[in-house]
Amino acid sequence: MASERTLSIIKPDAVARGLIGEILRRFEAAGLRIAGAKLLHLSLEQARAFYAVHKERPFYPGLTEYMSAGPILVSILEGEGAIMKNREIMGATDPAKAAPGTIRREWGRDVEKNAVHGSDGPETAAWEIAFFFKPSDLHGNLKSEI
Ligand code: RTP
Ligand code: MG
Repeated sequence: MASERTLSIIKPDAVARGLIGEILRRFEAAGLRIAGAKLLHLSLEQARAFYAVHKERPFYPGLTEYMSAGPILVSILEGEGAIMKNREIMGATDPAKAAPGTIRREWGRDVEKNAVHGSDGPETAAWEIAFFFKPSDLHGNLKSEI
């Protein structure tokens, strides 16, 4: 399987509860490398633009209000099969249905406040990464001799 990049968001409910370190630890422990990261607070407008794909869904107003309610940690995860690997580590959208040991099962509050976001395919990953990051915001590893 080829190396991929995917976009991860630690959502406002998880940032507010001090879970950034615990969640990033899960990604790194699974062999995913953090290739870019930033903490930011979306405006309602930015949240609406990011989730535009869901604009006809009944949960869109609540989702965009929640995603702009406090700071989020956006990161780029890189590694073999990163898109599906991240989705597995996250667990199902509804924390009550997520597998034991997944982030959402452990820390999600409900189907909306579910702690994390992850891109769902290669095209969405590329679009979502470009939404938040410039090419110069991506970083490679230290050289092994350092
Ligand atoms: P995400 O995009 O955040 O990684 O989550 P997902 O693919 O598992 O779920 P998706 O269907 O793309 O929904 C995006 C986010 O909208 C909120 N949601 N609320 N109230 C509801 O029934 C409902 N359904 C979805 C969640 O925050 C979900 O992650
Ligand atoms: Mg989704």
